[in-house]
Amino acid sequence: MLAAGQAGVESTLAEAKELGDRLPSEAPMQPDWTREKKSFWQWDPSRSLLASIRAYQHARSSGGLLAGLVRRLAVLRHHFWSIVTGAEIPLNTQLGGGLLMPHPNGIVIHPEVRIGVNCMIFQQVTLGIRDNPDVPWVGDHVDIGAGAKILGGVRIGDHARIGANSVVLHDVAASTTVVGAPARPVGQGR
Ligand SMILES: CC(C)(COP(=O)(O)OP(=O)(O)OC[C@H]1O[C@@H](n2cnc3c(N)ncnc32)[C@H](O)[C@@H]1OP(=O)(O)O)[C@@H](O)C(=O)NCCC(=O)NCCS
Repeated sequence: MLAAGQAGVESTLAEAKELGDRLPSEAPMQPDWTREKKSFWQWDPSRSLLASIRAYQHARSSGGLLAGLVRRLAVLRHHFWSIVTGAEIPLNTQLGGGLLMPHPNGIVIHPEVRIGVNCMIFQQVTLGIRDNPDVPWVGDHVDIGAGAKILGGVRIGDHARIGANSVVLHDVAASTTVVGAPARPVGQGR
């Protein structure tokens, strides 16, 4: 009986190990919501702007009178914090959780851009169209340095890093660092 129990534990451990071995490449990255947290009274325009976007999108997906009021309030909050930060991040943009914008001023994002979880975007970054309506898609845990421009229907792989003032016009592979205008790879893996 004891031996059978031991065998069961061992096979469970083996399965867990196999799952653990697969996790880094296959499990979707979980958003780290603590990166967006702030206390109610804390002066933090970047997180306040994000909170207004989160509140709007949450209220839009729920129905009812209260949700309608919350949505309208979120629109006003979004106007206010957009003026304070000088950032243009539309209310409908698909932003993965755990987004960090340490200095949000001058960030401009096209409304159809998709951004993965746990990304970091510095000041004066533009994510937008080029010569047709295609927009960038940004993977998970991507860091975009100050002043970088990512233009057109490019795909930025997970864990990529975009150097300050880069102009990205082509896809960037996962875990790759690119710099310059036009951006070129200078490093792999992180
Ligand atoms: C791109 C970045 C992440 C690379 O960091 P790293 O892995 O430590 O790379 P290194 O510093 O070793 O640089 C590698 C090469 O790229 C060059 N390089 C780095 N950043 C560059 C940039 N933004 N533009 C042009 N070239 C750059 C380096 O000169 C070096 O070239 P070399 O091999 O010919 O000497 C970093 O330089 C960067 O731009 N971070 C953004 C930081 C930021 O925006 N901060 C804002 C704070 S308010």
